[in-house]
Amino acid sequence: MGDFVVRDAKTLDGQSVDIRIRDGVIDRVERAGTLSAGELEEERRFDAEGRLVTPSLTEPHLHLDYALAAGQPRWNEAGTLAEGIDIWAEYKQNLTKDDVKQRAARTAKWLVAHGVTRVRTHADATEESLATVEALLELRRELQDIIDIEVIAFPQDGIFTDEGNQALLREAVEMDVDGIGAIPHAEPTRETGVKSVKTVFDLARKSDLKVDMHIDETDDPGSRFTEVLANEARRHSWGDRTTASHVAALHSYPNSYASKLISLLAESGVSVITNPPDNSVLQGRHDDYPRRRGHTRIDQLQDANITVGLGHDSIVDPWYHYGKGDPLDAAYILIHYAHMSGYDDVSVIWDMLTTANSDIFGCKNYGLEPGSEGSLVVYDSFSAFDTLRLRPPRRLVLKEGTPVARTRPSETTVLQGDERTTVDFQRS
Ligand code: FE2
Repeated sequence: MGDFVVRDAKTLDGQSVDIRIRDGVIDRVERAGTLSAGELEEERRFDAEGRLVTPSLTEPHLHLDYALAAGQPRWNEAGTLAEGIDIWAEYKQNLTKDDVKQRAARTAKWLVAHGVTRVRTHADATEESLATVEALLELRRELQDIIDIEVIAFPQDGIFTDEGNQALLREAVEMDVDGIGAIPHAEPTRETGVKSVKTVFDLARKSDLKVDMHIDETDDPGSRFTEVLANEARRHSWGDRTTASHVAALHSYPNSYASKLISLLAESGVSVITNPPDNSVLQGRHDDYPRRRGHTRIDQLQDANITVGLGHDSIVDPWYHYGKGDPLDAAYILIHYAHMSGYDDVSVIWDMLTTANSDIFGCKNYGLEPGSEGSLVVYDSFSAFDTLRLRPPRRLVLKEGTPVARTRPSETTVLQGDERTTVDFQRS
C-alpha cells in the first residue's frame, strides 16, 4: 500500500495541518504547507484547501436489519416503540436473508459515504430463522474493506416473552457475534426483566462477549433496569465492555434516584448511548401536555465522567421513518432537543461523535496523531461549528489510508435578472 497525503486540512481545534499516511497508519502530521505530495499520483493525494478533517466516524448504535423497511407492511402512525415492534413482527414473517443483506448493504454504504468506517449493529435474535443475524455476519465479512461491522445479538421481542426466545438467543451467540443485548423493559414483569439482564451477563461471560442492552427506553419512572445492568457490570468487572443504550427513563426519574443511578453507572465503568432520532419521536407518546422529550440526562452523565455516545439507531424503519445514514443528523437533532445549542457545546458534540463513540467500539489508535490509524474524513466545510450547522457532503473518506468514498458537491446559483450568485451556505 502506498502513501496518502492530505494537505491543508483544519482540525477540530482549528490547526491547519498536512497529514501523511503510510501503510495504513498516520506517520506524519505537520504544519500546513510542509509536506509535499508532488510525487504521488492523483488518487493518493487530496488538497483540502482549509476544510475540516476529523478521524473517521463510528456509528455505535444501528439496526441494519431493519433499515429501509419503513412502510412495509404499514407506517408507524402511533409513533410508539410498541407499535414499531408490532409492525416489525408483521414484516419479519416473510423476511429472507437476501432481503436483509440488500437493505443492510445499501445502508452501510450510506454510512461510509458520510465518513463512518465502523458500525455497531444490533441483529434481531427473536426472528425465527435467525436470517437477520446470518445476513449481518456475512456482510461483516463482505464489507470489511470499507467498514468494520460489529454485530450484537439482540432479542427484540424479549427473552422471556416466548418459549423459544431463550434458545434462539443462545443459538445466535454460537454464530460468532461480537456481543449480546437485551430489552428488559419489554419483558413481561420486573422479575423477568431482571432475569434477562442476568442471563445476558452469564452468556457474555461464558462466551467472552460485549454487552449492549436497550434499557429503560421508556418514559416510565418505575422502569429501573439500568441499575441492575450497572451492578452486574460492576460485580463481574465487565464495565468497559458494557453499554447501556437509551436509558430514556433517566429523564423522568426523581432527582434523588437519578443521582444514585448516575453514581452507580460511574462506578461500574459502563458507557451510555443516546439515540436522538428515535427517542425524539418515540418518547412522550403517552403524555398529554406538557409532552416530555424523553432523552437521557446527557449533561449529568458527562459531569460524572461517564462516556456518552451518540447513535442514529434507525434509518427508514418502523421506529423512525427518516434519516440517510449521517451521524451529523443525529447530532443536529440532539443539539436542538437536548438544549445543546451553546457555542461551548460544539466541542462536546464532537467529543461524542468521535472519541466517545470510538471508545465504546473499543477502537485502538483512534485520532489524528502519528501512530493513529489512517482513517479520516474531510468535510465540505471549514470549522467544527459550521460542519454541525451545515452537515455538508464528505469530500473524502479514508479507511486505513485507502479512499472508500468521495463526494463532488453540487453547485447552486441564485438567478436575479442578469445577476448570477453562487450560494454555498458558507459564512465567509
Ligand atoms: Fe436500537
